[in-house]
Amino acid sequence: MAKPSSLLDTRVIYCGDNLEQLKKLPDACVDLIYIDPPFNSNRNYEVFWGETKEKRSFDDRHESTRAYIEFMRPRCVEMSRVLKKTGSFYYHCDWHASHYVKVLLDQILGENNFQSEIIWHRALSKGLAFNGFPNNHDTILLYGGGERTVFNRPYNPYDPDNLDEKTAGKYSHRDPDGRLYQLSDLTNPNPDRPNLTYEFLGHRKVWRWTKQRMQEAYEAGIVVKPSPGSIPRMKRYLDEQEGRPIDTVWMDIPPINSQAKERLGYPTQKPLALLERIIKASSNENDIVLDAFCGCGTALVAAQNLNRQWIGIDVSPTACRVMAKRLRDVCRIREDENLWLRGKGFVVRDLPWTEKQLRTIPPFEFENWAVIALGGVPNKTQVGDMGIDGRIFPVGSEPSAKKDEQLDFMDDWYPVQVKQMDKVGRPDIDMFEAAMMRAKRKKGFFVGFDFSSDAMLEIGRFFQREHISIVALTVREILDETIALRLA
Ligand SMILES: C[S@@+](CC[C@H](N)C(=O)[O-])C[C@H]1O[C@@H](n2cnc3c(N)ncnc32)[C@H](O)[C@@H]1O
Repeated sequence: MAKPSSLLDTRVIYCGDNLEQLKKLPDACVDLIYIDPPFNSNRNYEVFWGETKEKRSFDDRHESTRAYIEFMRPRCVEMSRVLKKTGSFYYHCDWHASHYVKVLLDQILGENNFQSEIIWHRALSKGLAFNGFPNNHDTILLYGGGERTVFNRPYNPYDPDNLDEKTAGKYSHRDPDGRLYQLSDLTNPNPDRPNLTYEFLGHRKVWRWTKQRMQEAYEAGIVVKPSPGSIPRMKRYLDEQEGRPIDTVWMDIPPINSQAKERLGYPTQKPLALLERIIKASSNENDIVLDAFCGCGTALVAAQNLNRQWIGIDVSPTACRVMAKRLRDVCRIREDENLWLRGKGFVVRDLPWTEKQLRTIPPFEFENWAVIALGGVPNKTQVGDMGIDGRIFPVGSEPSAKKDEQLDFMDDWYPVQVKQMDKVGRPDIDMFEAAMMRAKRKKGFFVGFDFSSDAMLEIGRFFQREHISIVALTVREILDETIALRLA
């Protein structure tokens, strides 16, 4: 596919704070922006992983709302700058701040450019409110860039078994095969059409169609005489109509539930169907879609599937790795610089790959980075992990049993322990040994920046004593990708 703009790169995931990344983009360069920022952006790492406790006092809430709006303001200013005049901006939020966000966007994008407040009914409530109605919808605010925006009106097909009164009244006829239709007028509103004035089935009229077309439609059973002597009319079938235009209340897209095939396990993940609707409605093929808070990359996957160009930004290296894997697995495109230069595949930019940067990311991100880099799966629970941060399932490991409908790989995994410290010491190794004994593991991996000589001696003694091996891996070895041999 040709590059849509020489001004910027697309099919790129940028890892970093979107404020900095957005500043690097030129003015008026993207066609569609969708964002779904976490409410507590100052704690975005927890929010990405689903820490969403709601037990705060009013003052506390007010303070965080203010902080949130002030955090979002410069970012929305940048997004408004990079949006084309014909572009659309979707801001996904909920009751926490939707009314403040509306005021913010009115100020930045212009009150006159507000287009719609979409209510996405989640179908499953997030739990009963302590006192009051359960919160059960998200709010998506849509603004235009200032000029006439792209809008491909979406429709919901009619369900013949569940028609509203007006439509049922209109489509009141039924063919023997069950198809519903209405009868519509075939006479021409313009009386001055000599070419279309002729006699048909005993009626001389000015018709809409030529005589030949009328005759063909009559033979096909589309033009009928409803009763002897009546004027011929045309059958308009319900199932050939576009359907009901989708309005601002979206009740037909369920949230990701525990059984959903697309589910990756992140509570903030939005359904692909939601993003597909937005992208189809407000962009055309090869247009550029930007998600500046892209999480597990739902908007990017939807954009790729719909042949749009895309740019994703997320501050979390883990999120960037998760979405890169998702694009590879779901869209079957390759993460490959050479391919990307030739207009295919995609790239991830600015991941904190240096030792220095890895020392400064939050411990939680560091653990995820290390486990994912080893090809393992990070633990979902970060507290009470009993000394194990992740698991590696060796290639070819087979599930030994099925437990509660989950495949059980219990017999075949290696624990990973990660410490973001300069020198892993003997006490850290002691704790990991205890965790491995409890979990009855024969081999495990320990990641740190370096290991003290005491720690290395203890690893040797442990092997002699218990025949359990601990592989000590340094961050440098992981970065140099020299670990493949040691993982074998
Ligand atoms: C609610 S999630 C988005 C989920 C996404 N819509 C999906 O379906 O997967 C919000 C994301 O914003 C990211 N984020 C928070 N602050 C950010 C910032 N300043 N710059 C870039 N990304 C940020 C978080 O890391 C998180 O992944």
